[in-house]
Amino acid sequence: MVCLGNICRSPLAEGILKHKVQERNLNWEVDSAGTSGFHAGEKPDRRSIAEAKKHQIDISEQRSRQFRGWDLESYDLIYVMDNSNLRDVLSLAKNEEEKAKVILIMNELEPGSNINVPDPYYGEYGFENVYSMLDKACEAIINKY
Ligand code: 4NP
Repeated sequence: MVCLGNICRSPLAEGILKHKVQERNLNWEVDSAGTSGFHAGEKPDRRSIAEAKKHQIDISEQRSRQFRGWDLESYDLIYVMDNSNLRDVLSLAKNEEEKAKVILIMNELEPGSNINVPDPYYGEYGFENVYSMLDKACEAIINKY
């Protein structure tokens, strides 16, 4: 799960998908990262922690890290939150196989729509909307695989 800072959207996506994976006893490895290293080592944004907590999900132990080229080798699927993240991650891909792993997360719910999960960092009120979008997309991912 990849966004820009790895403190708002992708930590929520990681927490939500891990929760669904646990509920279904699946053996999946789920992680998140940011295309930037601006917030490396930091906890998720307090507003993301609070939103997850409303849904009985604890993301407070996560720490931000920067996405690296080798993540494209290590993981089967790379879900990005918006089209800017998509460009940044694709620029690190070394071949077609790696490019094919990178997917806009909302396209799992609405294929071909190319919808962004909006960046809630600068507004107080976007987190509930982000959670709801990611919850639906993660449910679609679980059902697909
Ligand atoms: P995220 O949100 O990409 O969902 O983690 C952001 C967090 C920090 C910044 C931008 C977006 N920033 O500019 O510091």
